[in-house]
Amino acid sequence: MPNFEEDDFPSTPGKFKIERSHHLHHGFGRQFSRVFSSTSTMLIWVLFLIALTVSFLSFQTTVHTGRSYGYLSWADRKWEREVRVSAQIQRPHGMSVLVTGAAGFVGSHVALALKKRGDGVVGIDNFNDYYDPSLKQARKAMLKRHGIMVVEGDINDAKKLNKLFDVVVFTHVMHLAAQAGVRYAMENPHSYVHSNIAGLVTLLEVCKSANPQPSIVWASSSSVYGLNDQVPFSESDRTDQPASLYAATKKAGEEITHTYNHIYGLSITGLRFFTVYGPWGRPDMAYFSFTRNILQGKPITVYRGKDRVDLARDFTYIDDIVKGCLGSLDSSGKSTGSGGRKRGPAPYRIFNLGNTSPVTVPNLVGILEKHLKMKAKKHFVDMPGNGDVPFTHANISAAQNEFGYKPTTDLETGLKKFVRWYLSYYGYHGKYVN
Ligand SMILES: NC(=O)c1ccc[n+]([C@@H]2O[C@H](COP(=O)([O-])OP(=O)(O)OC[C@H]3O[C@@H](n4cnc5c(N)ncnc54)[C@H](O)[C@@H]3O)[C@@H](O)[C@H]2O)c1
Repeated sequence: MPNFEEDDFPSTPGKFKIERSHHLHHGFGRQFSRVFSSTSTMLIWVLFLIALTVSFLSFQTTVHTGRSYGYLSWADRKWEREVRVSAQIQRPHGMSVLVTGAAGFVGSHVALALKKRGDGVVGIDNFNDYYDPSLKQARKAMLKRHGIMVVEGDINDAKKLNKLFDVVVFTHVMHLAAQAGVRYAMENPHSYVHSNIAGLVTLLEVCKSANPQPSIVWASSSSVYGLNDQVPFSESDRTDQPASLYAATKKAGEEITHTYNHIYGLSITGLRFFTVYGPWGRPDMAYFSFTRNILQGKPITVYRGKDRVDLARDFTYIDDIVKGCLGSLDSSGKSTGSGGRKRGPAPYRIFNLGNTSPVTVPNLVGILEKHLKMKAKKHFVDMPGNGDVPFTHANISAAQNEFGYKPTTDLETGLKKFVRWYLSYYGYHGKYVN
C-alpha cells in the first residue's frame, strides 16, 4: 500500500523525510518546534548583543583616535597605552615631543633631557645596522628605565607615523633620524636618499596634515659648508658646494623644509651640528674608533690635508648640543597651518651649533692618550677625496642671540667624560661589561 505521505511530496526526497517525521511524531514535534523557536530567538539575541559590543568597541576606538582602524587587539591597546604614558607632560606649559632617531647618539641624549625636565617624549627609530645595533638597543633600554618608549619603525612608514599622531597630540618634533657619516655614502648612497630625503618628506607630510601641526626642529649638519674655506662658518655663507653625498642630502633637507614652511606654515628650525662627541657616542666617528684601537694596541689612521696640514674640527660636547636642541624647541614658535593649509607665516630658522674652538686631530689623539694612559700607534695618511673637509669652525652668534646658546665643555673635559663612559660600557679590552 502506497504511503500517502509519499504521494503528497514525491519530488523532494529530503523535505519528504522531514515532513514524514513531523507527521509521525505529532506531539513531540510541536514541543520540539516550541523549543527550537525559543533557541533561535535566543541565538538571534546573542548575535545581536555581540554585534552591539563590537560596534561599541570600534566606536570607542574611533572616538579615541579620531581615525578608525577597526577593532583594536589587546596588544594594540597596550601599545597605545604605553605611547600615551611616555608622552605624558609632567610640568606646566611642557611639550610633547616625538623624537626621531631616539636610539641614536644625539637622539637618546635629547630624549632623556626632555623627559628629565618634565616633557612628554616618544621616540621612533629603525635600529638599522649602520653601526652595532646592540648599542642602539642599550640606549633604548636606558631610555625605558626613565619612562621613555622608543617605537621600532622607519620614518618612511607613514601609517606608523600617522598612528602615533592619532594617539598623541605632539606639540613638537625633534627630527634626528638620518643616515649619518660622510664616507659610508660611497658604499651605500641609497641609504642617504632613503632616510635623509624620502624619510624627511614622509615625516613632513604627516606633520603638515596633523591637527594641530607640531613645530619641527631637525638636524642639518656643518657639512653643508662643504668646500668653503672662509672661517668661522656663518649661517649666511654659501652652502652650494657640498663635498659629499651626505652633505648634499642635508643641504637638500634645508631646501625641502623651507618648502614645507612656505606652503604649509610649518615652523621649522634646522640645526647645523659641528662634530658632536661624548658618552653613548657613535662608533663610526674618529674619537670613538681611536679609543677602541688605542686600548686594543692597534694602529690608528690619522688623515692629513694638503701640504701635510693637520685636519681640525670644532668638536662639540653632547651636553652643549642638547642645550642647543632644547633652546631651539623652546623658542621655535608655532606652526600656523591647519588641515594641511597654511594660515599665516611661520618661523623658518637655521642655526650653527658648534663649540667655536677647533682642535687638530693629532691634539685630539694626545688628549685620548692622556686619559687612557696609553700611547697610540699613529699612522699618518694623506686625506683621500672621500667627502671629508679639512677644517670646521662655527660662528654661533645667531644661536647665542636667539636662545642664549653658550657651549661650556672643552675637548679635554668632554673626552675625559667619554673615556670614563667607554671604559664602563666596554671595559679595557673592548668587551661589553654592563
Ligand atoms: N654626531 C654628529 O657629529 C653629527 C654632526 C652633524 C649632524 N648630525 C646629525 O644629527 C643627527 C643625529 O646624529 P647621531 O650622531 O645621533 O647619529 P646616529 O646614527 O647615532 O642616530 C641616528 C638614528 O636614526 C636612526 N635612523 C636612521 N634612519 C632612520 C629611518 N629611516 N627611520 C628611523 N630611524 C632611522 C638610526 O638607527 C640611528 O639610531 C643626524 O641627523 C645626523 O645627520 C650629527
